[in-house]
Amino acid sequence: MASVRTVPDAGALARAALAEILTRAERALAERGAFHLALAGGSTPRATYVELARATSRARCARWHVWFGDERCVPPEDPASNYGMARAAWLGQGAVPDEHVHRLRGEALDPRAEAARYGAELAAVVPEGRLDLVLLGLGADGHTASLFPGEAALAETSALVSPARAPVAPTERLTLTLPALNAARAVLFLVAGPDKAPALAAALAPAGTVPAARVRPHDGELLWLVDRDAAGTPPGA
Ligand code: 6PG
Repeated sequence: MASVRTVPDAGALARAALAEILTRAERALAERGAFHLALAGGSTPRATYVELARATSRARCARWHVWFGDERCVPPEDPASNYGMARAAWLGQGAVPDEHVHRLRGEALDPRAEAARYGAELAAVVPEGRLDLVLLGLGADGHTASLFPGEAALAETSALVSPARAPVAPTERLTLTLPALNAARAVLFLVAGPDKAPALAAALAPAGTVPAARVRPHDGELLWLVDRDAAGTPPGA
């Protein structure tokens, strides 16, 4: 069952996301001795990663592992790189040990081989292949990670990671699949801005068919953190 929490604005969203991440990190460390967190790409989560940079240290994150929900097929130094964005906002400070940052190699010449490699790494390192927390964004067309409407990656039913195609540049992507996302112990969507209101309504609809509506962890929590603009709440309401 999804729970939806509306916060006033993007800044409040980042602070609320930080609190959710830290709470789940403590729980995972207490229960399993490690915290496996998958990061979202795009622009919305950057403010959350800046909050993480302020709130974390090596002492706190020595047993954290960071994964990526998707990546554009570009090198890390490309402005479109999701890893590059997270490194600039947070990971570059070194709170999470380098060997615990599991990068999807966007520069790989063979995306299919990279998808298989990453899926095998995830299955080998993450207990039962169940990420503790997956951060996800929402596109205006209802996509999430790089699972776009009508694309083959959305239909993947067994592999944990797949090459993907996006309708906007960079079109070549790598993405966690629904099997990987729905195995997670918790999924946290971060959605901000009025342009996302229709997609949010579609994603939360009981029989929603957009890709984000199909993220329903089999045995995990599903939380939507949305700002008032995305929720369509008029100011002062
Ligand atoms: C990506 C993301 C993608 C993103 C949405 C929302 O690689 O672009 O994984 O799913 O979360 O497109 O992007 P914004 O936060 O920039 O609106």
